[in-house]
Amino acid sequence: MRIIKIFDTTLRDGEQSPGASMNVDEKLHVARQLARLNIDIIEAGFPVASPGDFEAVKRIAEEIKGITVCGLARAKDLDIERAAEAIKPAESGRIHTFIATSDIHLKYKLRMSRQEVLEAAIYAVKKARKYTDDVEFSAEDATRSDWDFLCRVAEEVIKAGATTVNIPDTVGYTVPQEYAELIEYLFNKVPNIDKAVISVHCHNDLGLAVANSLTAILKGAGQVECTINGIGERAGNAAMEEIVMALKTRPKFFNADTRIKTEEIYKTSRLVSKITGMVVQPNKAIVGANAFAHESGIHQDGFLKERSTYEIMRPETVGIPQSKLILGKHSGRHAFKERLRELGYELTPEELDKAFQRFKKICDQKKYIFDEDLEALVSEEVKKVPEVFSLLKLHVVSGTDSKPTATVKMLIRGEEKETTETGDGPVDATYRAISKLTEAKSSLEKFEIKGITGGTDALGEVIVTLEQDGRTVRGYGSDTDIIVASAKAYINALNKLEGRKRIPTKGI
Ligand code: KIV
Ligand code: ZN
Repeated sequence: MRIIKIFDTTLRDGEQSPGASMNVDEKLHVARQLARLNIDIIEAGFPVASPGDFEAVKRIAEEIKGITVCGLARAKDLDIERAAEAIKPAESGRIHTFIATSDIHLKYKLRMSRQEVLEAAIYAVKKARKYTDDVEFSAEDATRSDWDFLCRVAEEVIKAGATTVNIPDTVGYTVPQEYAELIEYLFNKVPNIDKAVISVHCHNDLGLAVANSLTAILKGAGQVECTINGIGERAGNAAMEEIVMALKTRPKFFNADTRIKTEEIYKTSRLVSKITGMVVQPNKAIVGANAFAHESGIHQDGFLKERSTYEIMRPETVGIPQSKLILGKHSGRHAFKERLRELGYELTPEELDKAFQRFKKICDQKKYIFDEDLEALVSEEVKKVPEVFSLLKLHVVSGTDSKPTATVKMLIRGEEKETTETGDGPVDATYRAISKLTEAKSSLEKFEIKGITGGTDALGEVIVTLEQDGRTVRGYGSDTDIIVASAKAYINALNKLEGRKRIPTKGI
């Protein structure tokens, strides 16, 4: 099986997405995660573009080891010198130099002849080779260039020392069959093509970036340039996660794979989205919120019987803890029953029938059905799984001149236990004590307090969200004493987590 090199340009072309610019620390943060993802080459920036870009490339070259760090440079002296200086500290450094080869760019942008462009390309590659043995040349707008001129440029830059030749679809203009033919043409017409790796770099203006990249791999391209979440100039670049997972999911078809640690994909996608502020659309392949979510009853039923009926990849492979069954008006009885089991409710067939009818009515009234809606639906008629933890006593001391201290007594699996803990506030002290007694492994994701009634004697309601092993549960507690309500909510959530542990969930 061929191993395709992954050249990640999230920090360079990706950063060219409007509004996605990152500061040096943010770029380092992303670079560390890209290294964990095990990409082959990181295009860390365009050093001549700004002092910040120069600094980012340099810092990444200093810190990130085990992958090649690359800096972009136009075919110009100063660009190449700045790129060379920025990548100097790298364990393995690459200069990526480029010039356009299409007649449109030659005529209107560069105002150069083909001969002048050819000479500039050769000069740039030779100059870059003085600083590093790893030089990539890109023929910008290759897909709108004259094919024979492109072949000539490729041959000459390889002679000049380019070790990678990139054939960008700069404006996202090509289509899979045409791009495949172009790559094949280059392999047939460039006599020294075996001396360099052929790389592809596709933009997504027609939504074809990933498809074009994959057809080029089939024709022999050995490197793919891509970005996390497909961010990039205009409609973006080819999305790395889609290319990697296409190869992984269809190994017989492509006979090619990558070195990517796919389990890191989701984490990387979240990080890039958070840092750039570019939201991932819910239906985005591989990393979108709905990529592993099933709503239709027919799909949910098939999935619960055998997940491969409706899933071609496992969410765990890309680092998503589990598939989701969305409960809504399209859902069937099977998924409804499974979710109730997850929440700790075992229903008889008659109870299930009644609850399911009520559920369908609610679905017509509400867009989203939350776990608490389901609990409200069934809690009156069915027995809940017995509680593992319950609160027997809570005594809290706090104020302006004392360290908040909580003494908590609980019944834990039939045994009484008590402890005293201090904390940053009365709730913190209480939670520390409960956590110690129950040996909780979960983390507190969210803590919300609401007043149910008005006035200082109001009944307070607390909702806590806990996360454990990729699962989240919400716990509720209400009391006129807000600390007691907080304790009840925490214990309620812990009981839900325990209930889920005891009931097999078929991987939902
Ligand atoms: O799209 C493009 O042509 C580029 C080059 C600099 C490789 O980003
Ligand atoms: Zn590009």
